Amino acid sequence: MDKKIMIAIDGPASAGKSTVAKILAKDLGYVYCDTGAMYRALTYQALQFKIDPTDEQALVSLLKKMELSFEPSEKKQKVFVNQVEVTEAIRQPDVTNLVSVVAAHSEVRKELVKRQKKIADQGKIVMDGRDIGTAVLPHAEVKIFLVASVDERADRRYKENLSNGVNTPLDTLKQEIAERDYKDSHRTVSPLKQAEDAILVDTTGLGIEQVVQKIKDIIAEKVS
Ligand code: DC
Repeated sequence: MDKKIMIAIDGPASAGKSTVAKILAKDLGYVYCDTGAMYRALTYQALQFKIDPTDEQALVSLLKKMELSFEPSEKKQKVFVNQVEVTEAIRQPDVTNLVSVVAAHSEVRKELVKRQKKIADQGKIVMDGRDIGTAVLPHAEVKIFLVASVDERADRRYKENLSNGVNTPLDTLKQEIAERDYKDSHRTVSPLKQAEDAILVDTTGLGIEQVVQKIKDIIAEKVS
């Protein structure tokens, strides 16, 4: 694909966004940016420094001192805060269960959205999150809204957790996912919402390759 385009992938927790976005970026030779990892990294730092996740100003000060960087890797994209790797640490349940509170602050979002726009500046980007098509890259050429049933998402998270040595019961995961969906889609600032010009892709019952192909077909249609 010669044309440099921006691809925005949004959707609820565990709908498969990062897996699919990463494969797409690799196949297209694009940069992949996982914006959820940025909110997670801030949450992780707040826990490390015992900062109250409801204290917006303290979080913003912390964020301003944080250098966030990514490094592509075969399995998961590596995430660094001030050059220290936090790839695994930001996926632990303590971070997962607090991140919605941190991500709800408007000043936190303003700062992270600014950084995300800068990363996307050069085009050739696949960015995933909750507000990419609506707030971060409203002019993205391709916008995908990826969904899947709560049961299937909990099941995927369960398997992913097990491979990372985390053993949270399936029912707990279902409850946590439903709660996070609620918080992410009911917050005042940039709630999770399908952009008007986004294409809905339901991944329930589909394998990763099938989802990737569906999105490639959508991209081909959009750029032709
Ligand atoms: O995609 P994820 O589970 O890693 O995202 C972690 C949290 O960050 C999620 O609960 C919502 C929030 N988030 C957000 O508010 N906006 C984004 N663009 C990405 C993630």
